[in-house]
Amino acid sequence: MSDNYKPGLEGVIAGDTAVACVDQGVLLYRGYPIEQLAEKATFEECAYLLLNDDLPNATELATFKKELDSFRALPKQVVDALRLIPNNVPMMDVLRSMVSMTGHFDPVSDPADNKRRAIWLTAQIAGIIAARYRLLNGQEPIAAIPGLSHAAQILYQAQGTEPDALSAKLLDLTLMLYAEHEFNASTFTARVICSTMSDLVSAIVGAIGALKGPLHGGANEAAMDMLKQFKSGEEAKAWIKDALANKKKVMGFGHRVYKNGDHRAQILEVELRKLAASKNQQVWMDIYDAIKEPMVNEKHIFPNVDYPCGLTYYLLGLPLDLYTPLFVAARITGWSAHFIEQAANNRIYRPLSKYVGPALRSVTPISVRA
Ligand SMILES: CC(C)(COP(=O)(O)OP(=O)(O)OC[C@H]1O[C@@H](n2cnc3c(N)ncnc32)[C@H](O)[C@@H]1OP(=O)(O)O)[C@@H](O)C(=O)NCCC(=O)NCCS
Repeated sequence: MSDNYKPGLEGVIAGDTAVACVDQGVLLYRGYPIEQLAEKATFEECAYLLLNDDLPNATELATFKKELDSFRALPKQVVDALRLIPNNVPMMDVLRSMVSMTGHFDPVSDPADNKRRAIWLTAQIAGIIAARYRLLNGQEPIAAIPGLSHAAQILYQAQGTEPDALSAKLLDLTLMLYAEHEFNASTFTARVICSTMSDLVSAIVGAIGALKGPLHGGANEAAMDMLKQFKSGEEAKAWIKDALANKKKVMGFGHRVYKNGDHRAQILEVELRKLAASKNQQVWMDIYDAIKEPMVNEKHIFPNVDYPCGLTYYLLGLPLDLYTPLFVAARITGWSAHFIEQAANNRIYRPLSKYVGPALRSVTPISVRA
């Protein structure tokens, strides 16, 4: 039996799914290539696609956006609770607690209506992130403007002014790219929780905990944390030379599934270059390229989506602590789609382990134990 054992379940199929797949290096959401979605759709359309079987038509999209808007206001108790959390608590920990907290005010009366509950959670998570951001800056949370895109709404509710079109487009793009990625660690966590017939809020809270780690969603923050120590491409070049010589792990690079490059990183990088140019911030692209060039050419380890995403968020004026929560704001849709799929065709997850502890031995009474 242990012959089939693969540490980290690498290469092991752990369930079937119709939500997404990586087909010959290309990520598909319900059959649609992410590249085409990024070009022709929006985050809301992707969210609808993931929660349903197909892309919405114009009427379906309008209804979906109205439903999202109807769920944006946070319960007063959630805002009050946000005020009680010490300022130094990391945003991912705050989000984990507050999703649990808002779960006590679930407005969806039908326990089985997880599609509607997912839309509500998508709106609430965006609101929690923005409200916390404002409270940390000594500002009161502000109400949403109905009709804005989800991405523009997040920027507006956090920063207090409606974003320019390019900023809203860039955030929208990252949300689309982050929305879903088949059986990654956090999605698998959500499915395992679902498989015990637990509820959607519990699954999302667990998934947030799994996403937080720097080997998963935390990599966008970690990647920017690395980049911001440099003032020029030259400084970055010297650092990466030393890092490679000392076999340091470079955040935002490498992937379990994409060994020849993460498609999503390539899509985002094109737009990131435009954003940097529009803001006269070419120095950041010099630093970005100085790290990327030897990673790709010498190590054959490619950027994953978190590498360009960290810098994109930085150039949008967002603080590092918000980056992984924004990943949550997108992935809530994929997690929910997987939860709904798992619940519809459930078998509890209960794998085996390979025992490596002591061999069979006898218990001696405490009076004679050395
Ligand atoms: C994503 C990640 C966990 C994938 O892990 P994995 O499939 O288990 O790949 P491994 O860790 O076995 O890596 C294989 C080899 O590449 C190296 N490698 C992988 N990612 C690397 C990185 N980011 N920097 C430097 N070396 C890296 C490993 O050290 C290993 O080298 P070795 O064979 O000499 O020991 C890993 O690439 C990583 O830790 N990346 C940094 C964190 C990150 O960006 N995470 C976001 C993922 S979307």
